[in-house]
Amino acid sequence: SGPPLVDGHGRRVSYLRVSVTDRCDLRCTYCMAERMTFLPRRDLLTLEELDRLCSAFVERGVRRIRLTGGEPLVRRDVMRLLGSLSRHLDTGALDELTLTTNGTLLASRARDLAACGVRRINVSLDTLDPDRYRAITRRGDLSQVLDGLDAAQAAGLSVKLNVVALRDCNEDEFEDLIRFAHGRGMDLTLIEVMPLGDVGAERADQYLPLDVVRRRLARRFTLEPLAYRSAGPARYVRVAETGGRLGFIAPLTHSFCEGCNRVRVTCTGLLYTCLGHEQGRDLRAALRGSEADVPLQAAIDDAIANKPRGHDFIIGRSGGSAVARHMSVTGG
Ligand code: GTP
Ligand code: 5AD
Ligand code: SF4
Repeated sequence: SGPPLVDGHGRRVSYLRVSVTDRCDLRCTYCMAERMTFLPRRDLLTLEELDRLCSAFVERGVRRIRLTGGEPLVRRDVMRLLGSLSRHLDTGALDELTLTTNGTLLASRARDLAACGVRRINVSLDTLDPDRYRAITRRGDLSQVLDGLDAAQAAGLSVKLNVVALRDCNEDEFEDLIRFAHGRGMDLTLIEVMPLGDVGAERADQYLPLDVVRRRLARRFTLEPLAYRSAGPARYVRVAETGGRLGFIAPLTHSFCEGCNRVRVTCTGLLYTCLGHEQGRDLRAALRGSEADVPLQAAIDDAIANKPRGHDFIIGRSGGSAVARHMSVTGG
């Protein structure tokens, strides 16, 4: 296998996030506009190309792969991709193969996910109120996600709930969400809304800084800082009253770029070395241009050498979006 991937700032890249589709069955207000134009299917990497691409990163020392979207489970052949990539778990080349999902299709897929070697999944759930869930997702049915959580846990998967903190929307619910998650043995992470893509709403109206949330939660709970880290940017505390773990992903109030270990690839094969970067590196051309991986590896090396120090997200009035593409294209 080739040399490890180290960027120009000395950071080792060991975590690959791959968006397998830009499509989603929901339209969360902070993620998408009401009317979205999705990419034509012919632009997407094929299953074989996705496999080859992931494997090229594994060759170079990537130890974790997370499939994202859009909603990864709406892509029909995603289970076949996972099944195929699981060979890297068997050889010990990969430590973790996982996904981030909205949970709507989880009830029917949980067992197969576990069979593919998935151990842990992240599920997006911003509210426990059915009407509010419908309002946030514009078309979701909360009961499907709750069934999905049951199925995931029954299949032996560890679950982390992702909750995007939304001003005047779900900010009264964090305590309930924490009790719900921790009561079922799930971690929960609160996430600051990031200015990616035009969603037809003023970002400043959605944005709720997590330092404010944390101060409020500290009046209800005893928050004990933890050394524990997941592979991602979350900083965790233990909630003494519930015994569960609570994470904070706060790119705006607490930058975590210094320790960044990851890159992401879109469903069309663009490599983004930072979520906040506009310019992606076209790996699809390298994949399609040659059966040998040499040009592909060269493109990866070149992009990673130029990985930016960090994002420069800011949220202000009429600031527009920091990055034109939606989160659903890059997968977070
Ligand atoms: P684990 O720690 O491995 O469980 O994953 P994670 O929490 O990083 O992944 P997940 O897909 O659940 O993403 C949760 C949130 O973190 C999403 O809003 C992502 O957009 C955000 N996120 C993940 N990685 C980055 C990153 O490198 N930069 C920024 N700004 N946000 C990120
Ligand atoms: N800012 C922060 N988080 C977002 N997500 C989607 N869009 C945004 C955004 N603009 C979250 C989803 C999911 C994760 C992959 O990213 O809720 O949990
Ligand atoms: Fe779909 Fe996730 Fe975006 Fe919601 S946040 S629209 S579930 S991709």
